[in-house]
This record gives sequence, C-alpha cells and structure tokens, in this order.
Amino acid sequence: MKIAILPGDGIGPEIMNEAVKVLNALGEPFELETAQVGGAGYAAHGHPLPDGTLKLAKEADAVLFGAVGDYQYDKLERALRPEQAILGLRRELGLFANLRPAILYPELAGASTLKPEVVSGLDILIIRELTGDIYFGKPRGVRECPDGPFAGQREGFDTMRYAEGEIRRIAHVAFQAARKRSRRVTSVDKANVLETFQFWRDIVTEVHQEYQDVELEHMYVDNAAMQLVRAPKKFDVIVTGNMFGDILSDAAAMLTGSIGMLPSASLDANNKGLYEPSHGSAPDIAGKGMANPLATILSSAMMLKFTFGRLEQADRIENAVKRVLARGLRTPDIYEAGTIKVGTEEMGNAVVAALQ
Ligand code: NAI
Ligand code: MG
Repeated sequence: MKIAILPGDGIGPEIMNEAVKVLNALGEPFELETAQVGGAGYAAHGHPLPDGTLKLAKEADAVLFGAVGDYQYDKLERALRPEQAILGLRRELGLFANLRPAILYPELAGASTLKPEVVSGLDILIIRELTGDIYFGKPRGVRECPDGPFAGQREGFDTMRYAEGEIRRIAHVAFQAARKRSRRVTSVDKANVLETFQFWRDIVTEVHQEYQDVELEHMYVDNAAMQLVRAPKKFDVIVTGNMFGDILSDAAAMLTGSIGMLPSASLDANNKGLYEPSHGSAPDIAGKGMANPLATILSSAMMLKFTFGRLEQADRIENAVKRVLARGLRTPDIYEAGTIKVGTEEMGNAVVAALQ
C-alpha cells in the first residue's frame, strides 16, 4: 500500500501533517513517500509538477494531496502556476471520476445557511465525470458566425460530447458506490434539450441492467439544482457530466457550510485515486496553525475505502472524527459559542486519540 504524500502550498503542509499522523496511527503497513507539488514544486524544481513527483504519483497506489496555489505565483505564466499540478495529475493518472461527498454532521447543522431540519444529517455523494464533456470537446474557439441573425459577427463556441465508453465507466462507478451506501442513484442530465445527454440517459439506463439491486432515477439538471436546496436529503448518489457536476458539487458542498470538512476522491478505472480536501490552499490563514485538517483526514478515509478496500479502517477514522466533534472540539472555521476552539495540531491529535 504505497501512498504518495503531496502536501503542496499554503495550509497544505499543516493539514497533511495531521492526516499522516492519523494514517500512521492505524497500524497498517503503509509505505508513505512525500514529494513537492504546486508552488512548492516550482520553488524547489522550477515546475509545479516536477518529474520526480509525477513518477512517484504514478508508482504509488494512491495519492494524498493537500492543496496548491498562492498569490506569490499569480504572476507566473499559466503553465507554471501551481494549479497546473492538479490538472496534470488528473490527466496523467487518467482520473475520470470525481467523488465529492457532502456530509453535514448533526453537531455542525448551524454552519449551513439552510434551515437545520433541511440539512442536518445530510449525507450525499456527487460523482462528477472529470475528463470529458464541453470542457474538453473540440472544435472550440472564436470564429465568424456562419448563420442566423448574427451571421458575419464573431462567435465563441465549444463542443459538448461524450463517448459511450466514457459514460459507461462513470455509470459503473456510480452504481458500485451506491452499493456501499443506500443503493439509490440519481443520474442528472439535460436529455430534453441536449443530444449528448439523451445519449447519456440511454447509456446509463443500459448499464443499470447490471445493477438491478440499485434504484435509478433520471433528473434534469435544472430540477436537480432546485431539489438540492429544497430537499437535499432525498438524494443518495448523484452522477452527472463534467459541467453539471462542477456546478452541482460546489452547490452541494456549500449546503454544509463548512469547506474545511469536505473530502474528495478522483479515481481511475482501477480504483487508483487521488484524494484531497475540496478546499484550496487558504493562503489567508496559512502558517497560523488554525486550518481545519478534517477534510484531509476524511480524504484519507476515502482512500482506505475506495483504493485499498479497508472499509473498517475508513469507518474507524470517520467515527473518530464524529467523536471529536461530539466532544465539542472546533477549529475556528466551524467554531460556535459554547464549543471548544482548537488549532490544526490539537484537532489532529484529538482524532488520533479518538481512534483508540
Ligand atoms: P480556499 O478554499 O483556499 O479558501 C476559501 C476560504 O475558506 C478562505 O477564507 C480560507 O481561509 C477558508 N478555508 C479553506 N480551507 C480551510 C480549512 N481547511 N480550514 C479553515 N478554513 C479554510 O479558496 P480560494 O481562497 O479561492 O483559493 C486560494 C488558493 O487555493 C488559490 O491559489 C486557488 O487557486 C487555490 N485552490 C486550490 C485548489 C486545490 O489545490 N485543489 C482548489 C481550490 C483553490
Ligand atoms: Mg468548481
């Protein structure tokens, strides 16, 4: 079980320290190896994704990633900016399935902008296809508009496309993930307007034949957006394309109101994966010892579940986090009157203690 540890920039190293402590406390024979990425990679090796880092990520069974990005690198040309590291890793490792759970622990129900009864206990999983759709389809560009009332003017255009195999593999990921949960999948599309997403609906329906124990529902994306804020607890697993998933996963994340709590996974066809918190490098609080390490710790739990199949160890971590929250420990981002304010390290240590 070889794990590449890529802390990155900003709060990345601080939150990663705590996740590594938790992994080490499990008593499993992990082989952890650390490398620089993002701005840290640029500072040390002149590139956000240095060759050695990419090699390590490819050799490892899983990658645990902190965060990248910092204002000091904003002046660099695009290819050298820290964010290119994560795009490069996705591409080089073939990570096509992005899994983002949105979980609201009952103790944190006050953090959401929605009414507690609407969101308390929320536990949904959004699965976003990550390497296809209109974000990568060609042709694209700016050209002379060939027809219609604006003929002759310039127009911007992109191409939405999904290959059958691309839809099949993400559908399999969704149905398999649903089997580890409450066996319900909502496939989100725009089949009423878009050919690509009528095709998506047809293929998802076909793949579903292999998963008769899982309930499948289709929903248009506009309705899904509405239902997510109206009655989000009705969902279990949501599977959708790259663009709809980009938007819906951020909306779902914010239902919980606590960016410091949300893990994510990006998987390839063999359940090799990159695991990272949903938040960024938080340069505004970096180095202050106040970042919430729980999103990264929970990302390591996803890693144990999806790449290593160690479900009981993943549960141990998730239960330890719940216990620490129940004890009232809070980093500043989730602090409320009446709870106990702690820093990054104290929070990590508390999770380690709660594992025992
Ligand atoms: P951000 O997620 O870094 O920060 C947004 C706000 O949330 C800030 O106020 C920050 O202090 C707070 N926050 C984030 N994580 C937290 C944690 N664990 N504990 C407590 N508070 C936390 O997003 P922002 O400000 O848009 O971007 C900052 C940098 O991060 C940029 O350079 C951006 O490109 C990069 N970024 C990197 C990502 C990645 O590594 N995958 C993802 C998103 C942004
Ligand atoms: Mg987004």
